[in-house]
Amino acid sequence: MKISYHGHSVVQIATMDNKKIIIDPFVKGNGLTDLKVEELEVDVIILTHGHNDHVGDTVEIAKKNDALVIAPYELAVYIGKHGINVHPMNIGGAYQFDFGTVKLTQAFHGSSYEEKDGTVIYTGMPSGVLFTSNEKTIYHAGDTSLFSDMKMIGEHHSIDLAFLPIGDNLTMGPEDAKLAADWLKAKKVVPIHYNTFELIKQDPQIFINMLPENKGLLLDVGEKYDLSHT
Ligand code: NI
Ligand code: MN
Repeated sequence: MKISYHGHSVVQIATMDNKKIIIDPFVKGNGLTDLKVEELEVDVIILTHGHNDHVGDTVEIAKKNDALVIAPYELAVYIGKHGINVHPMNIGGAYQFDFGTVKLTQAFHGSSYEEKDGTVIYTGMPSGVLFTSNEKTIYHAGDTSLFSDMKMIGEHHSIDLAFLPIGDNLTMGPEDAKLAADWLKAKKVVPIHYNTFELIKQDPQIFINMLPENKGLLLDVGEKYDLSHT
């Protein structure tokens, strides 16, 4: 499994079978990203929650690529109303797809989508994502605070790589994310959800320096990482 980071919470995954997955494809309006909606090739979109900086360009990308959208139930129903192929899930549930297994985990956060006219849509519970393919597991925490059940997630899943928000203000900050990294027992930890907006400004290197040696993995925007190294 190969992963790449694209600013904010955007992560792309290519499985060994070369299935192309994107998590939280916030492209337009994401000042950090290197991606362009019209150039994206995607088979599957996974959404952690309904906030606009995570749903992003899901509808356009899904239509263009005839992609499957996997999301928490209420968000999946909402996305499905746009004529898109959706797969609803909920926290604690896992499902084995042909490209790997997706399991949603809890996240302590909000979840709603704001339409262009200001209408706010309820999109269910926010979540994190465990994705396993070819015996490698990644965890994308979505937007969340630190929560002690991360210990349980770490005990029951062997996490090769975890994407953790460090921006503070709206999610965990660096100190809490450091504890999360310990509790999850992840082999590698990649900081996400920082520097996109003034409210979430952080120096990610400070976070990396808090972690044990070789545990932190600071990915530049567009940088790839091959999980067969972990
Ligand atoms: Ni959010
Ligand atoms: Mn967010």
